[in-house]
Amino acid sequence: VVERYGPPEVAEVRDVPTPLVRADEVLVRVAAVAVTSGDARIRGARFPRGFAVPARLALGLRGPRRPVLGSALSGTVVEAGSAVASLAPGDAVAGMCGARMGAHAELVAVRADRLVPKPYDVPHAAAAGVLFGGTTALHFLRDRVRPGTTVLVNGAAGAVGTSAVQIATLLGGEVTAVAGASNHDLVTRLGARAVVDHRATRLADLGRTFDVVLDAVGVLDRRTGSPLLAPAGTLVLVAATLAQTVGAAGARGRVVAGPSSERPDHVTELLDHLVAGRLDPVTRTLPGLGSAVEAHRVVDSGRKVGNLVLHLDDPAA
Ligand SMILES: NC(=O)c1ccc[n+]([C@@H]2O[C@H](COP(=O)([O-])OP(=O)(O)OC[C@H]3O[C@@H](n4cnc5c(N)ncnc54)[C@H](OP(=O)(O)O)[C@@H]3O)[C@@H](O)[C@H]2O)c1
Repeated sequence: VVERYGPPEVAEVRDVPTPLVRADEVLVRVAAVAVTSGDARIRGARFPRGFAVPARLALGLRGPRRPVLGSALSGTVVEAGSAVASLAPGDAVAGMCGARMGAHAELVAVRADRLVPKPYDVPHAAAAGVLFGGTTALHFLRDRVRPGTTVLVNGAAGAVGTSAVQIATLLGGEVTAVAGASNHDLVTRLGARAVVDHRATRLADLGRTFDVVLDAVGVLDRRTGSPLLAPAGTLVLVAATLAQTVGAAGARGRVVAGPSSERPDHVTELLDHLVAGRLDPVTRTLPGLGSAVEAHRVVDSGRKVGNLVLHLDDPAA
């Protein structure tokens, strides 16, 4: 429960009422749930420049109006709303809750059409781990990368980055990954053909261009990103400011920003990749909701590698 914005320690474990289940929702017993940069942004009220006022108006002025955060989850349906035909108690599911959040809990009510069946072969932790970065990578790269497309992924070791490197590679792209030196082996194993250490080389000094430049760090803008683009290339600003987001709308597709779509068909696609062993969820698990503060600290460090998941169930499940 996060009742006021602040450091990781504001997250507390408390008993709260079981969520009410609306007709189009199911109640899910959470087995694994990610603690993401999105959760940490809300907890710390650290929004990209320009978004502070609209975000506080939408989420709550001094603290989140919905105090239980958490969106990317995997678990088991325990109750189905009266209008739900697609899911039944006992079904294993994975998905994202959207703005309603509430998944950092033992039980969460989620719209049934936001969830997809979780294959038996995919552990809950892997499913919950891959969704946040994976849906973001698919949203921004699915229709932009084809065989031979050159892709620069800045922030390649994080949640979005590890998925972006792998999704771009699966789509046939040739990936250059920007990460700290300690993560170069990881991003190479995930498919990167070349690596750049952001502490040793400035992006402006790379001396080459790319068809797609995806910035998951928030250091590029239209002015600094454009020199990195090949003719007809696209700059994807995953962590854009409000001005960049508005500006992207007028950039005729050359600059892309805005929220990721969290599409259920993308969730299914990610789970299929996991079943087939094509995608590494790069997930570290921490035990139980009591690890939430520790998880928020790791995210706040800015050095989180891949994904972080709270495991509420048997880790072998
Ligand atoms: N538009 C959307 O809908 C959307 C969706 C998801 C996320 N986001 C945003 O995207 C951003 C990334 O999210 P995330 O979850 O991937 O974050 P994350 O997992 O917390 O990213 C941590 C990683 O960032 C790397 N990093 C830090 N500074 C770097 C630099 N200067 N150059 C290269 N890498 C650097 C670190 O790697 P090293 O230790 O190797 O440096 C670390 O592994 C966040 O701002 C998030 O809010 C937006």
